[in-house]
Amino acid sequence: MPKVFEVPDGYQISKHAEDEELFMFLKDLYAAQGPDSMMGGRWSRSLVSSELKSSALLALRDQVGYLRSMILYKTLPDGFEITILGTAKPHRNKGLMRCLIGCLQDLARSSKRRIFLEVHQQNPVAHDFYEELRFQRRGLRTGYYSDGADAILMDWRPELSEGPSQA
Ligand SMILES: CC(C)(COP(=O)(O)OP(=O)(O)OC[C@H]1O[C@@H](n2cnc3c(N)ncnc32)[C@H](O)[C@@H]1OP(=O)(O)O)[C@@H](O)C(=O)NCCC(=O)NCCS
Repeated sequence: MPKVFEVPDGYQISKHAEDEELFMFLKDLYAAQGPDSMMGGRWSRSLVSSELKSSALLALRDQVGYLRSMILYKTLPDGFEITILGTAKPHRNKGLMRCLIGCLQDLARSSKRRIFLEVHQQNPVAHDFYEELRFQRRGLRTGYYSDGADAILMDWRPELSEGPSQA
């Protein structure tokens, strides 16, 4: 199956990060969202450490080696569950997350798994982005986030992903 993603110039794929490095990345990610952050959960150092032990990481590093974009996901029998994803603010809109999702979609296609995730109901950038990549709404988890907002449940299935508009 041909790859449907390209690694943007000046970046390289990485599957490893140190606990502290990921913690600092997530801290900056939340800080960039502002005080009324729509993103749920708080990532303590211990939570980051335990998530890194039980999850897989797909990331892009810049030429100097700094982490700039990442997906943390768990491999379940029926699919990959994305726990958290994000791109450092100065590196957004350069196709980094499109590349990482494309990479995960390749893995999902070859292992016949779906990909599922939750998105905050007031995060239209992320929601529209997933729809563009052919994720579909599957339900709602009410009051899921710490601000009381609902989570939209979405998934992507390899068998529904073929077609000309794929990135
Ligand atoms: C959503 C997010 C992960 C996208 O990452 P990114 O690396 O900028 O994504 P890409 O550059 O690959 O862009 C993919 C698409 O997202 C959309 N997009 C990205 N940034 C956008 C913005 N500021 N406004 C509107 N659309 C935007 C565009 O449709 C873009 O498609 P295009 O390449 O055809 O223009 C990033 O904005 C982010 O980290 N947000 C904060 C964390 C977050 O919301 N995580 C999701 C939790 S579910």
